[in-house]
Amino acid sequence: METLLLTEKDINKAAEIIKSGGLVAMPTETVYGLAADALNGKAVEKIFKAKGRPMDNPLIVHIAALEQIKALVTDFPEKAQALAKAFWPGPLTMVLPRSDIIPPEVSAGLDTVAVRYPVHPLAQALIMASKTPIAAPSANTSGKPSPTTAEHVMKDLSGKIDAVLDGGSCDVGLESTVITLCTDVPRLLRPGGITLSQLESVIGRVDVDEAVLNRLAEGKKAASPGMKYKHYSPAARVVMIKGASDNYTCFVNAHKADNMAALCFDEDIKRLEVPYISLGARDDYRAQAHNLFDALREADKVGYGLVLAHAPDTKGVGLAVYNRLIRAAGFEVKTLEN
Ligand code: TXA
Ligand code: MG
Repeated sequence: METLLLTEKDINKAAEIIKSGGLVAMPTETVYGLAADALNGKAVEKIFKAKGRPMDNPLIVHIAALEQIKALVTDFPEKAQALAKAFWPGPLTMVLPRSDIIPPEVSAGLDTVAVRYPVHPLAQALIMASKTPIAAPSANTSGKPSPTTAEHVMKDLSGKIDAVLDGGSCDVGLESTVITLCTDVPRLLRPGGITLSQLESVIGRVDVDEAVLNRLAEGKKAASPGMKYKHYSPAARVVMIKGASDNYTCFVNAHKADNMAALCFDEDIKRLEVPYISLGARDDYRAQAHNLFDALREADKVGYGLVLAHAPDTKGVGLAVYNRLIRAAGFEVKTLEN
């Protein structure tokens, strides 16, 4: 199939594709999503095929007006309403008890559904014009870094989906924060653009699922099925290096080799003697989030075999950057002593 490249003026064409059960990659403020009619199980099934995604990994349902949530969930508790008021539309996904209209392909057999109200005008326009909530995972081949430009989507999915709606580069650059309201204490399942302290400032205590920072223990059931899969991986071997800037740069220079690069912060650059890609300033977590997936894809483009990545802080949005990078590294971490 030929994949059409559409722009803002083609919204109605994109909506026709969704209504007739096809797939359109759409921009959101986080990453590009691979959109299908969330209430059409057959259309949703195509998403899994195009991405090569395991069928037991549920999808997020996107809405473009708060009233749309009523048909999707059986309970919209006070804490969820407070979070919606504070952060919707925006990069926050809430897991809630699902209603019967959610097809099994979307919820992957769980009795919950993840719902998000994106702020990106093109995502909102597509949902509105399609007159249905839209199921959309990140629009990458399963296991690869999520796409933050239409070009990234084309690289992975050209020929496998009906169209890509080009909305330029995504603002946040990492996927939404996922929180479940189905546990006694709300639980952060995936960190993102809305930080833990922002969530806690609205609803009080939020627990952090252990899979956010650690590899899921063998045989343990994932609270969020996506967390058990290999993720965000470029072709290169990525190792995450923990340590101060001079220790990190010293280590990297000592391991100088053909075909290797540093994935670093601006402060590291002056001491590096190897090719590098910088994520931005050490304390600019939003810039790091914005740049990470593009940097991992850039490493593939150049064809590096080994990427030594300087570990980010886990403060604020840094927690989300750390969470993605440690998965890109397959949890291969080296800690340098002072
Ligand atoms: O920013 C985003 O969230 C993007 C854009 C397109 O909206 N979407 C996205 O979708 O990142 P995806 O499928 O790549 O990641 C969704 C994550 C997965 O880890 C999945 O396991 C989890 O959310 N998830 C979905 N439904 C869930 C549920 N009912 N319970 C627990 N986790 C769920
Ligand atoms: Mg994804």
